[in-house]
Amino acid sequence: MAKVKYTKVMKCADLEIGKSAIIEVGDKEIALFNYKGNFYAIDNTCPHRGAPLGEGRIEEGILICPNHEWRFELKSGWCPQNPELSTEVYPIKVHDEKIYVRLEKPKVEGAAGSAANSLPSNIKFKIPTILKPRNPDEEL
Ligand code: FES
Repeated sequence: MAKVKYTKVMKCADLEIGKSAIIEVGDKEIALFNYKGNFYAIDNTCPHRGAPLGEGRIEEGILICPNHEWRFELKSGWCPQNPELSTEVYPIKVHDEKIYVRLEKPKVEGAAGSAANSLPSNIKFKIPTILKPRNPDEEL
């Protein structure tokens, strides 16, 4: 079995519940969240127009982009507005009060790179449809 490499990114105590951090690991910029005591790592760059997802808010496990409010499931990166624009998530492990992130691409069913227009079958939340962009001059 191949050894999987995790990279230490920060101490657990430095990311309190409800907080997020944007960190650089190698050439990647990652948004790290402590949501209800669990840590999540997701690519910081919104696949819509590049806003920093680490500055977004979370509602019921859904990360909401601070710019046009596209939504991404925190666990999988799945984007209900456009599954083709789902974003990458990174597996995390906690050891000795420190957070480690695995940078290699995870194999998450329904996440980025899966078949277009196919939805994961394990959805357990409702997502309100965005009716219009916050800035009426911008298109979604
Ligand atoms: S930049 Fe994130 S939704 Fe537009």
